[in-house]
Amino acid sequence: MQIGIFETSEEASAAAARGVVDLLARKPNATLGVATGSTPEGLYSELREAHAAGRFTLEGSAAFALDEYVGIADGHPEKYRNVLRRELVGPEKTGLTEAGLRTPVSSDADPHLAAGQYEASIAAAGGVDLQILGIGANGHIGFNEPGGSLVSRTRVEVLSRRTRTDNARFFDGDVGKVPSRCITQGLGTIMEARSLLLLAFGAQKAEAVRQLIEGAISAKWPATVAQMHPDLTVFVDAEAAELLE
Ligand code: F6R
Repeated sequence: MQIGIFETSEEASAAAARGVVDLLARKPNATLGVATGSTPEGLYSELREAHAAGRFTLEGSAAFALDEYVGIADGHPEKYRNVLRRELVGPEKTGLTEAGLRTPVSSDADPHLAAGQYEASIAAAGGVDLQILGIGANGHIGFNEPGGSLVSRTRVEVLSRRTRTDNARFFDGDVGKVPSRCITQGLGTIMEARSLLLLAFGAQKAEAVRQLIEGAISAKWPATVAQMHPDLTVFVDAEAAELLE
């Protein structure tokens, strides 16, 4: 595991972006795994700047979302496909194409089937080269909530109360508006990415970061499974690092 502790999230995001730009320079059609939520916003902004400066493009790449809500309208601004479109898709963003952006089709009548198809589509694309991850305050990655299998595959998952409360800020502060289910890549699926880059910012992530870096591998803190990954990089800001020994 490589750990970078930065004074600010801006510095960490810039360092993360340098890693992504370097990867695309080495492997121009590299496949990314992309997280949503607040954490990667600075990284995505850096990538848009790098694209505008002609230093980088995702034009020939695929980007697989980690997860998607089930039971959210196609046009809802918080549907992760729409969030990632706004962040990454188009020549004025990172060059990623609409077809290159891959998300679970959660509006399917059968989300379980859609989850299986999504898993198969990742494998068919040759897997993910670099998976960008945030972490939940309860230690989830993707939406793999505490207590689940450490080797799970892409599936339908029920969001914990804690996660729905944390995400209410994207839904007018109303936890009742946050979907209760999602399709998420499993921990086993995420672990197959060739590299993992996990970002965590702010004091509310400090305990999850402590468990990730210093804790025992346990389903109570799902992200701890990433300790087993041969190429894991963790970039945190000073607040998220405050409980590290
Ligand atoms: C998002 C995802 C989640 C988030 C996590 C942290 O696609 O899979 O694991 O990374 O909930 O969310 P933020 O970054 O909003 O604190």
